[in-house]
Amino acid sequence: CGIVGYIGPREAYPIIIEGLKRLEYRGYDSAGIALFDGNDLKVSKTKGKVADLEERSDKEITKNGSVGIGHTRWATHGVPNDVNSHPHISNSGDLVIIHNGIIENYESLKKELISRGYTFKSDTDTEVLINLIEDVKKQEKVKLGKAVQIALNQVIGAYAIAVFDKNKPEEVVIARLGSPLAVGIGEDEFFIASDASPFLEYTKDAIYLEDEEMAIIRFHKGIKIRKIKDDSLVDPYIQKLQINLEQIEKGGFDHFMLKEIHEQPKAITDTYRGRLLRKEAIIKMAGVEDNMKKFLNADRIIIVACGTSWHAGLVAEYIFEDLARVPVEVEYASEFRYRNPVITEKDVLIAISQSGETADTLAAIKLAKSKGAFVFGVCNVVGSSIARETDAGAYTHAGPEIGVASTKAFTTQITVLTLMALRLARAKGTISSSDFRHHLLELEMIPKKVEESLKSDAHIQAISDIYKDASNFLYLGRGYNFPVALEGALKLKEISYIHAEGYPAAEMKHGPIALIDENMPIVVIATKKGHYEKVVSNIQEIKSRKGKIIGIVTEGDVQVKELADHVIEVPETLESLTPLLTTIPLQLLSYHIAVMLGKNVDQPRNLAKSVTVE
Ligand code: G6P
Repeated sequence: CGIVGYIGPREAYPIIIEGLKRLEYRGYDSAGIALFDGNDLKVSKTKGKVADLEERSDKEITKNGSVGIGHTRWATHGVPNDVNSHPHISNSGDLVIIHNGIIENYESLKKELISRGYTFKSDTDTEVLINLIEDVKKQEKVKLGKAVQIALNQVIGAYAIAVFDKNKPEEVVIARLGSPLAVGIGEDEFFIASDASPFLEYTKDAIYLEDEEMAIIRFHKGIKIRKIKDDSLVDPYIQKLQINLEQIEKGGFDHFMLKEIHEQPKAITDTYRGRLLRKEAIIKMAGVEDNMKKFLNADRIIIVACGTSWHAGLVAEYIFEDLARVPVEVEYASEFRYRNPVITEKDVLIAISQSGETADTLAAIKLAKSKGAFVFGVCNVVGSSIARETDAGAYTHAGPEIGVASTKAFTTQITVLTLMALRLARAKGTISSSDFRHHLLELEMIPKKVEESLKSDAHIQAISDIYKDASNFLYLGRGYNFPVALEGALKLKEISYIHAEGYPAAEMKHGPIALIDENMPIVVIATKKGHYEKVVSNIQEIKSRKGKIIGIVTEGDVQVKELADHVIEVPETLESLTPLLTTIPLQLLSYHIAVMLGKNVDQPRNLAKSVTVE
């Protein structure tokens, strides 16, 4: 997840190691470095932290050399271990690469390379890329820069890479598509990094590569930037940096939570990348495909999770039942594991967990396995305990989530579960091919619509200011948006410490209505599709009791706008996909209220990111 490189007159090792430490905030599970020591290439890499890498390289390599690249990996393909760590070396031993991102078509490229005699040590897509570059370089008899360019034009996916050839170590080639990459320009020296934090103390002059750009950096000769697609030269735009380290880590946002909220369009895209193939009208998920029989024969699906992940499970219940017509039960892992549940080999259990380490969820998995159920994991952290314990799974690819209150993990979990429900519905024939295509199209448009929803930020901030001193909040929603109401209330509780409850809108009259007076803000999710008229009636009931109404509505709404004190609009989409949009304003509302109350948004009191005790 982090890249650092150096080419210049100084010793590269300390610059790279310190730089990797600066990038630690991005989260990672292994680290590695490659140096050219004047004679040969030295590589050291390990599972674990940068400190483990230092210990290892102390024993393994001489640490001199003024050209080098280093990497911290947050696994996407292949478990975190020494072999899968970067850098990766080509078959000849000449070329070395570090890579962030995902090469989607690596399997077909790998097959082709194997047929040409290439061998692979790791399970990574990165080792495929470096051998593809080597193959192009040999076949086409071109220089490294050209070979990288030709290879990247064959690649589908996202990447930030740095590559060099030990026979020509005065040159480093870098490229980016969808994964950030910056170059620090010193005096006759260059620093390469995922963001400017590793080189801020050396230089404030930086070039940020744009998507689909590559650069060839030559010691003493400077930098040349080209477009990967058409080879045209790009004028380097050197920026004077005026930011400090902390600002960089948070990507210019005040908190990790806000950064992660804004990352959702990209995170959702990364989650369906390579899985949602709209043109072919198929969904490709290896974990589901390989176990399709288990899913098709299942009497029911049991979903277990905790906290926000449990809410994602509730959304999944609606979509699995709606589209794939399979009965679903959603359980708190902590309850499920202790209540002597009825489970058989005909059950499929889906465990959802961002961290993949939650103790109760892990215990529920073990219990289900012991009864012979097939267990499928939906995790964000690759190689985590739950990912390893389950029979199969699908990762969310949201990238590291640092804010304790979960945001992008939630929306990407829903994305994965939606893909699964659609895939299963297709296999069962419970969805028509035109409906299926329509879903794919709408799902593909979600990142853009999330971006649209994020534009209400200033408006939400103003609403937050009005209600920040309330001592209770009520969140209401129906159908697909009932779990969203629960999640909205949880977000507010977690970070602002204001008491909040989520309720199915129609249940309001069986209790919570007693709480409503002119001091009670009530967030009502009232999007156009799905019980709209009924929710409007609920809103009227609130209004006659003088409650303050904040409506989450579909763009262009008229009815709720007339009744509510405030409305926040989200774009229109399919009913089943609305949770991906209605969640966004609720995240922002809780965020702004917590900030205004001066709370520690990223690390709220008493809460932990990963709960490894029961
Ligand atoms: C903790 C976190 C929550 C999270 C829950 C489940 O309580 O604070 O944000 O939803 O654990 O975590 P998991 O990693 O299993 O999704």
